[in-house]
Parts: sequence; C-alpha cells; structure tokens
Amino acid sequence: MDVFYASHFGHTERIARTLARLISQSGVPARARDLAADYPSEAEISSQDPCVLISPIRYGVHLAPARRLLRRIAPLTPHKPLFLFSVNLTARKAGKTSSVGNAYLRNWIRATGARPLLAEAIAGKLEYPRYNILDRTMIRLIMTITGGPADGKSVIDYTPWTHVAELAAQIAEAAKALSDNVAHAGDDSCAPGGGGPAMRDEQQEAKRAALEKCRTQGEKAYDDMYEAHSFSAARAAYSDAKEFFYEAIKLADELGASDEAEALRKRLEHIKAVFRRQFSG
Ligand SMILES: Cc1cc2nc3c(=O)[nH]c(=O)nc-3n(C[C@H](O)[C@H](O)[C@H](O)COP(=O)(O)O)c2cc1C
Repeated sequence: MDVFYASHFGHTERIARTLARLISQSGVPARARDLAADYPSEAEISSQDPCVLISPIRYGVHLAPARRLLRRIAPLTPHKPLFLFSVNLTARKAGKTSSVGNAYLRNWIRATGARPLLAEAIAGKLEYPRYNILDRTMIRLIMTITGGPADGKSVIDYTPWTHVAELAAQIAEAAKALSDNVAHAGDDSCAPGGGGPAMRDEQQEAKRAALEKCRTQGEKAYDDMYEAHSFSAARAAYSDAKEFFYEAIKLADELGASDEAEALRKRLEHIKAVFRRQFSG
C-alpha cells in the first residue's frame, strides 16, 4: 500500500514513514512516497488499490502536491479506498482531530467531495528555531491567539505517537478486509481479458459519475473562490476549480461526449477570465 505524503519541514514525512513501517509490520506491505519527488502515475491513481494520503497545513492550506492528488482521487472514492490525514497544530486541542471538529480537514473533504474510509487530523510539531523571521512571527501570532507557546524558541512534538500506531493497525486491518472482499468478488465476476460488455458499461457509468462529481466540485470551488477571505484561499480555490474542470474535460473526452467537453472548456475559460480580472494584477 502506498502512503503518499507531502512535507515541508519533515515532520509529516516522519509520521508517513512510521505509518508505512507499522502497516507493513501488520502484514500489509506499505511504503512511504514523497509526492514532491515520486508523484503517482495515472494508472496508479486510477487503480482501486487502497492508499494513505497525509499532508501538513501551512498557512491554512494543505501542501500543493497533496491537494492535487486528492482532487484526482476524490471522485474515485469510495471505490478507491482512501485513508486521509491532515497534520496541523490545531489538532493538538481536544475535539479538533475529527473530520467534523478539525476545520482544515473538514473543508478539504468538503471542497473535494472525497469519501475517505478514515479521516483524521493529527497534531504536528512546533519548531520555532527552524522558521524564518516571517514564519516565526506568524506562528507566534497564531500561538498567542490559540493559547500555545509564543516564545519564538520552543520545539514541541505534539504528535500522539501511540495513536499513530493505532491508526496503522486500523489501516492494515481495513486493507486486509478489502483484499479479502476483492478476492471473493473475483471468484465469480473476474472475466479473463479485461471483462466483457457488462464491465465496459460499468466503467462508462463510473466515468460518467466521476465527470458529474468533478463538475459539481469545480463549480463549488469556483463559489469558494468568491467567498474566500484571503488571496491565498482564493488562489487555492481557483486552482481546485481548474483541476476539477481539467479532469471533467478529460473524462468527457474519454466518454466521446465532445459537445459536453466543449461546454466544460468554455466554462473553464470563463472561470480563468474571472480570476484574472478580479484577483490578479
Ligand atoms: C509557516 C507555517 C505555517 C503553518 N500554518 C499552520 C496553520 O495555518 N494552522 C495550523 O494548525 N498549523 C500550521 N502550521 C503547523 C504545521 O502544520 C506543523 O508544524 C506540521 O507539523 C508541519 O509539518 P511538516 O514538518 O511536514 O512540514 C504551520 C507551520 C508553519 C511552519
């Protein structure tokens, strides 16, 4: 199983590597993969293999390669089993680790329409000595507001490592149950040669459903762009909207729906023009 991660200062990488090691020890081979250096291929993304995706928060948004990957995977869930984790300092507080209680995770799921099998926020690490002057000032401000150490010197690992081990065990157990199910389903439905017409119909239907989902999520991201309270949030929503529309266009082309693909292209051009007009220059 792939444990995809993005990491700026290396703490999320440590969590990802720990998860991969413990999942492997539970009998499900797993490896940590850095999205910045080893981004998955199209075939890997669209396979129904389960995967873990984990990213830290930086100034309110998850790191770009993780956002990019979730935009692609989200329409494929829950058929593609996903275990999703957000690493942030807010999660050090009680009630802020669930997909309901943690706003970063909640918004990420809502913005992409992902349906992960498991989603949690994990408390990250505070490391003042590694921050540049601007980052240090900002984190001190955030810590002052949220009642954390604002001394500009502290190094505190808030990650609940025992819980990380529990998560690894849960993931391994779920992955085993899924592969048992697939093995049983294969007993009667896995035709040699890539499946017959029924399978092709099913794939077409799945693509059509994914297209609709991408279109809906693209429109939602476009709405979010308008409602954003900061430029970076507007830019993140714009980038989400573009990715959803690119994906919808690709799916429409694959389905041979050329009129629909053309309409989606026009809509995307409109969104780009609005962003350029309202938010840049
Ligand atoms: C510049 C910067 C901005 C951050 N912004 C946020 C934030 O908006 N909200 C939050 O809860 N945590 C924030 N964090 C905390 C990180 O998510 C946390 O330190 C995490 O462990 C970093 O993971 P990494 O080492 O993999 O990059 C920020 C950290 C840094 C350095």
